[in-house]
Amino acid sequence: MKLIIINGPNLNLLGKRENDIYGDETFQDFFSKLQFKFKTIELSHFQSNIEGELIDKLQEVGYEFDGIILNAAAYTHTSVGIGDAVKAINTPVVEVHISNTFSREEFRHQSFIAPNAKGIILGFGLQSYELAVQSFIND
Ligand code: DQA
Repeated sequence: MKLIIINGPNLNLLGKRENDIYGDETFQDFFSKLQFKFKTIELSHFQSNIEGELIDKLQEVGYEFDGIILNAAAYTHTSVGIGDAVKAINTPVVEVHISNTFSREEFRHQSFIAPNAKGIILGFGLQSYELAVQSFIND
């Protein structure tokens, strides 16, 4: 099974960004552990701070991979383009957030991805990504 985690803007700063909300682990450290835990899965990771690069990656993998785990970060709440890309591709997308976006500011309650996502996992810290991997395995 081929899965990819796609992370949006500022998620490259995990470990040193608002630690009270996002924790103190870097994504690279977490991702290495995740790959070790799910050795039988081909698990890759892509991060960009640029909206168009995220769309390019969704288009690139979206007809070939078995699943996409997408944390579009702030673009979740603003990007019609990323929402349209999720709608256009064939690969199922699970939307993920580290924090519980519904317990935060009102503007974070809106998602342009959710209407076309297979499901949404949020509020479990970095474990949200692991639960998303598990959801594809359980399918
Ligand atoms: C986030 C939540 C977003 O509202 C925020 O802009 C992020 C991270 C999360 O994983 O909790 O950058 O997607």
